[in-house]
Amino acid sequence: MPSFLGYSPAVRRNESRHQPPAAASSSFLTASSTVASRIACDERANEKMTLLCVPLVSKTVEQMVADAVAAKARGADIVEIRLDHLSDFDAVRDLPLLLRSRPLPALVTYRSFLVTYRPKWEGGEYEGDDKVRFDALCLAMELGAEYVDIELKVAENFVKLISGKKPESFKLIVSSHNYQTTPSSEELSGLVATIQAVGADIVKIATTAVDIVDVTRMFQVIVHCQVPMIGLVMGERGLISRLLCSKFGGYLTFGTLDSGKESAPGQPTISDLLNVYNIRQIGEDTKVYGIIGKPVGHSKGPILHNAAFKSVGFNAVYVPLLVDDLENFLNAYSSPDFAGFSCTIPHKEAALRCCDEVDPIAKAIGAVNTIVKRASDGKLIGYNTDYVGAISAIEDGLRGLRGGKDEIGSPLAGKIFVVIGAGGAGKALAYGAKAKGAKVVIANRTFERAKELANLMGAQALTLAELENFHPENGMILANTTSIGMQPNVNQTPVSKQALRWYSLVFDAVYTPKVTTLLREAQESGATVVSGLEMFIRQAMGQFELFTNLPGQLFNPVSYFDMLCIFKGASYNFFFFFLQLLKSFCAIFWHNTHKMVCFL
Ligand SMILES: NC(=O)c1ccc[n+]([C@@H]2O[C@H](COP(=O)([O-])OP(=O)(O)OC[C@H]3O[C@@H](n4cnc5c(N)ncnc54)[C@H](OP(=O)(O)O)[C@@H]3O)[C@@H](O)[C@H]2O)c1
Repeated sequence: MPSFLGYSPAVRRNESRHQPPAAASSSFLTASSTVASRIACDERANEKMTLLCVPLVSKTVEQMVADAVAAKARGADIVEIRLDHLSDFDAVRDLPLLLRSRPLPALVTYRSFLVTYRPKWEGGEYEGDDKVRFDALCLAMELGAEYVDIELKVAENFVKLISGKKPESFKLIVSSHNYQTTPSSEELSGLVATIQAVGADIVKIATTAVDIVDVTRMFQVIVHCQVPMIGLVMGERGLISRLLCSKFGGYLTFGTLDSGKESAPGQPTISDLLNVYNIRQIGEDTKVYGIIGKPVGHSKGPILHNAAFKSVGFNAVYVPLLVDDLENFLNAYSSPDFAGFSCTIPHKEAALRCCDEVDPIAKAIGAVNTIVKRASDGKLIGYNTDYVGAISAIEDGLRGLRGGKDEIGSPLAGKIFVVIGAGGAGKALAYGAKAKGAKVVIANRTFERAKELANLMGAQALTLAELENFHPENGMILANTTSIGMQPNVNQTPVSKQALRWYSLVFDAVYTPKVTTLLREAQESGATVVSGLEMFIRQAMGQFELFTNLPGQLFNPVSYFDMLCIFKGASYNFFFFFLQLLKSFCAIFWHNTHKMVCFL
């Protein structure tokens, strides 16, 4: 049980909350749909994990029926039939078809326009006539829908209407929505009590995250709730409320069939919930790791780390954490359940200040990209794995170039190493190159920052304009550590193609796309190129070691599926893809052979 919530497993609520009710018997239901529904329920009867619900938001009944079948095929437990999304809805005509053909237990929801789109509705602005909605929801219940969702504001009237008619297995969800904020814990607890008092079988509260810290209040209320509860915090900053439901005991979480088919802001896809975040494996004891950044949505870290955790059976999940204020975040998520973090733009330097102890290399670099919470005392220890990740990739690139795998010392020694950028990644590369004996030059948009870093590293500082004619020798090394050229600005490049002819190797920290304009032009100019993806995978391997205490060789997240995910939206060539695939098969083969040898 998450300790920051100060709660013991003994007081957890109703154990049966995670079992969808068996399909209600109804003369309108065919035997096959009843059986299908019952099987779906029985399969989960002995489990108490969070249920996975796909909202159906199509405009036609036919499409909704098709989407329900697709939802089952993709692994959903429940479908939410959103009647308000149907463009020409007639309850008597459409509900029998929708419910008869349902392949999974159904939650029927019929939000009024005012409920869905008027944030102040809970404050008393609603004046619509509910009769049409109530009649449809009653009919849905009579036709065998396993759940109906009704809003708190009108729940009392609806409860009166269905009183005495409720089938035994039917569950009424009473919901409250706040499209602006997340109230205090006390207010949320009060809301739970009000919803319970009105006669809800399941409490649903959806609020909005202004800051990721808001989500802690929802988690706190869920674990203390004595009845089944759906507690979700909407928006990108609330995403972890949807991903970590199983850990905190939420009754269900929503996953869309595809992106663009959300019924509320911030819903992930069912495919991401199951295949990236492995939510079926998440339980009370699962440790949470994550990538802290702003923005963070583009990060491939969750794909990589979750696959790696799964491959070694490490009970942990890695989630995106859109953080505005690092210190507030670390204070709010201080429990041992939140065990470690990766840091990206713009928090790497703040992370240095927020850690209780900092590894000497990270201190010398002046940036932390990995924070580990020490189990013995909860102290935050900062590290930097960017440096090893990038420098080892560049060294391997140079070794390949020279064909000198067995040479002693670093191939960077004595070379001019130009770093573009003076942020977190720039500092790591400058430090690493210096440590390997290279002559470091820093070029940055803000010249003052270039000078500052150059002074620290005993290096030379340049403006970006000066870089164009900078060629004291041939065969130099160039490393871009700015975001220039990153999607969507894929045509941008930090230095002209003419200036690239003085370099023997060009590295780009940007990895979306994999082949940036800088790398393409460098290749055309005859230089060896090293992609940011190499750095990304190697720095992640360093983080894996720190997070799991397992050897880096076990970091093997690259499956066929993962590669597809990593490269989705990035430009890549088939040859590289094939090589990576081969590499991954070899790694798996090596890993298994190694295990067999150890076993023997
Ligand atoms: N491949 C990997 O594993 C990996 C790891 C870490 C970082 N990265 C990538 O490296 C890049 C930088 O990350 P960071 O953490 O170092 O960020 P950061 O600390 O915010 O530093 C950003 C640097 O980029 C410069 N910059 C930003 N926009 C620019 C523009 N339009 N024109 C010229 N210079 C610009 C900044 O110059 P000013 O000083 O003038 O603001 C600064 O030097 C990002 O694209 C990130 O995704 C990749």
